[in-house]
Amino acid sequence: MSKFIITGGKQLSGEIEVYGAKNAAMKMIAAAVLIKDKVVLNNVPDISDVQMIINILTSNGAEISRDGHTLKIDTTNLTDKNPDPHLVKKMRGSIVLIGPYLARFGKIKIPQPGGCAIGARPIDIHLDVFRQMGAQISETDYFYEFKASSLDSKTINLKKVSVTATENALMAAVVGNGKTNIKNSACEPEIVDLANFLNKAGAKIVGAGTKSILIEAVGSLSGLEHTVIPDRIEAGTFCALAVVTKSPLKISHCEPNHLTAFLENFSKIGVKFEKGKDFIKIINSDNLTATDIETDVYPGLATDLQAPMGLVLTQAEGESTIDETVFEKRLGYLSELEEMGVKAKIIDNHRAKIYGPTKLHGRHIESLDLRAGATMILAGLAAEGKTVISNAQLVDRGYEKIEERLQKLGAQIERTN
Ligand code: EPZ
Repeated sequence: MSKFIITGGKQLSGEIEVYGAKNAAMKMIAAAVLIKDKVVLNNVPDISDVQMIINILTSNGAEISRDGHTLKIDTTNLTDKNPDPHLVKKMRGSIVLIGPYLARFGKIKIPQPGGCAIGARPIDIHLDVFRQMGAQISETDYFYEFKASSLDSKTINLKKVSVTATENALMAAVVGNGKTNIKNSACEPEIVDLANFLNKAGAKIVGAGTKSILIEAVGSLSGLEHTVIPDRIEAGTFCALAVVTKSPLKISHCEPNHLTAFLENFSKIGVKFEKGKDFIKIINSDNLTATDIETDVYPGLATDLQAPMGLVLTQAEGESTIDETVFEKRLGYLSELEEMGVKAKIIDNHRAKIYGPTKLHGRHIESLDLRAGATMILAGLAAEGKTVISNAQLVDRGYEKIEERLQKLGAQIERTN
């Protein structure tokens, strides 16, 4: 299990480039199952979650090669064998293979995706979507088996907003016959990007990014080239780094318009920043004042930025509150931060209070999940002294070469295996 060793407490400087969106790239690789032609995908981060979905498809005959941040994908020879359950089990995001597999092969059997560090992660919304589309679903203790000789084109109502359930429904409906209307759909930018990707392949999708997506199925899709949008969660994470280390960093190659709620909170607490077409520059982070934050579905404050924002609030004067409305186990990082000197109170599974500002001191801490782990790195760089963070490989799921990129800003961070 690799560790990060950090010596913090110093100001950083320079520019950090944001890479492609993990939660867009993964779904486009899954969507390539629908396209028996050559697909070129640019700006794909080299991270383990992306590699995992590549491994699942290549182990069943897909041809996928990487040249830097460009993937060349050809699923022409993908067999209808069920995806390797050992690989699927390792990553909940594999769930987005259900829609494409049902549309192409009419069947898929996957292990029950377990819960994870941030919550129980049920899949009832996904099951409900596919039942509405006419799939037969059988369940054993360990597996779900989906079968559908053809999927019904109709109005699909999501009983609760779900990003991947929206994406599964979208990918299941683009090839075939008839019209499908997905109601109460999630509006994340990654869903808009997936729809743009599929429309370039010949799909007919309108309304992505709204609560109602209309799809007119087509007979087949053809090869395309697409560039993945910037990762808004990476961008927000690096903005938080600049604030907690009081560093005038420029976060480049990002899409500030995907961070409206996050930057509104920055303005509320007094962070001075400049934003342009594809960059955010943090100017001043002194004299921050406490505020109350609430995560929500897009365009609300992203739950994946709740931990970095929580760390920022530890440096704000006064009592802040956090209301994590999306997941039920996403406040654990505050206990790790308390080890470093933070004054916080976890009220229940969804709410916490933070009393700031507090000085952080280096400690040996855990990274609990991908985003909490990234937040621990930020905390280590803000803290006086040495910090050791275990489970470094969790951060590699979503942040490519994170220590190398931070070293370029002057950060003292090393990885030990
Ligand atoms: C996606 O997960 C992202 N993952 C998550 O990012 C992100 O935190 C989440 O959306 C919310 O924005 C990927 O895109 C691969 P949901 P997803 O279904 O789709 C409940 C990261 O760090 N729910 O929108 O799984 C669920 O428990 C990851 O990059 C059900 O109850 O999230 C949660 O409380 C973490 N039943 C809420 O809905 C279901 O069938 C929203 O979950 C599905 C979800």
